Amino acid sequence: MTRAALEFIPLARPVMGEREEQAVLEVLRSGQLSLGPRVAAFEAAFARRVGAPHACAVSSGTTGLHLALRAVGVQAGDEVVTSPFSFVASANAPLFEGARPVFADIDPVTLCLDPDAAAAAISGHTTALLPVHIFGWPAAVGAFERHGLPIVEDACEALGAFHADGTPVGGRGHPAVFGFYANKQITTGEGGMVTLGSAEHKQSIDSERNQGRAPDMGWLDHDRLGFNYRLSDLACALGLAQLERLDEMLAARARVAGWYRGALAGLVADRGLVLPCPDAGGAVRGWFVFVVQLPEDVDRDGAVGALREVGVQSKPYLPAIHLMSFYRERFGHRPGEFPVCERVAAASLALPFFPTMTQPQVERVAEALGRVIGS
Ligand SMILES: Cc1ncc(COP(=O)(O)O)c(C=O)c1O
Repeated sequence: MTRAALEFIPLARPVMGEREEQAVLEVLRSGQLSLGPRVAAFEAAFARRVGAPHACAVSSGTTGLHLALRAVGVQAGDEVVTSPFSFVASANAPLFEGARPVFADIDPVTLCLDPDAAAAAISGHTTALLPVHIFGWPAAVGAFERHGLPIVEDACEALGAFHADGTPVGGRGHPAVFGFYANKQITTGEGGMVTLGSAEHKQSIDSERNQGRAPDMGWLDHDRLGFNYRLSDLACALGLAQLERLDEMLAARARVAGWYRGALAGLVADRGLVLPCPDAGGAVRGWFVFVVQLPEDVDRDGAVGALREVGVQSKPYLPAIHLMSFYRERFGHRPGEFPVCERVAAASLALPFFPTMTQPQVERVAEALGRVIGS
């Protein structure tokens, strides 16, 4: 096949249709683009979906993490135990309050925070635990609950996941933060949602996302410090429409993951390629990305370039947070501190993954990867 004939396969592609267009148009025509009825409607539908008593729509996953940490009382000087194998926002969020993210290593199979390592990282200054449901895998929240510390769950990648006991991620009562960036299971362009068990936390987040205005106070009357972390009615309308097709999109993502498993089985057997761990013991992944770990002898950056040459987008995903220059300089982190995370981070490669991906596209990616890493 000539290069010109190769179709470009992107990493991610949101699914949008008439339902979304209609929903957004209705808001445009209503004249109420923000602080309107779609916010509460989206919150109610989302809370119902994950079995949480409450939910707060916010402008992003990052701002949701910030407000959730404030709601559980994290303050300057505190320590928050979290995973170094995450998107940087989960580690940054404690820093917004002057608290310190304290990392602990990850489980080599699930890639989520290892409960034993986290337990060892807890100190007298620890005021919260922040497990991350990475790549849509449900972190071992039950094991973290034993410490009796407040928990904030980073569920930005995990809509649709279930814990082994059948609880949906986001439905255990701790503040759990979801993200709606364009590559997520549902998207509002940018956006987020915090699901909650506590009415008090709901009140605090509702107020602080809206400049510190108490719910029963008039316009421009503020009783605490707040932010503008609101999600617009336009975004909430889009979110409601996307939520309606969530099951369909999760099923499509799971189907694509199944095709990948089949197409990459040879590379697993012959080259030791590592695939995302399969659902086990009742735990169900909410499929978000398809990240493989390359064999040690493969130059990952070279692989990204070689895949790009044949029209396949891929990305090193995720880098270890503690080894990013800001974290090294600010906290003196060095290689070797979290060996599992570092090994996985050095080998991980996200492949194209989205609900409308076809089986021939998956096969083309697998074939290209086989050529790059040598089957
Ligand atoms: C694990 C994790 N945490 C936090 C975030 C931050 O979410 P947002 O980009 O909506 O601020 C993301 C989003 O990419 C994420 O993947």
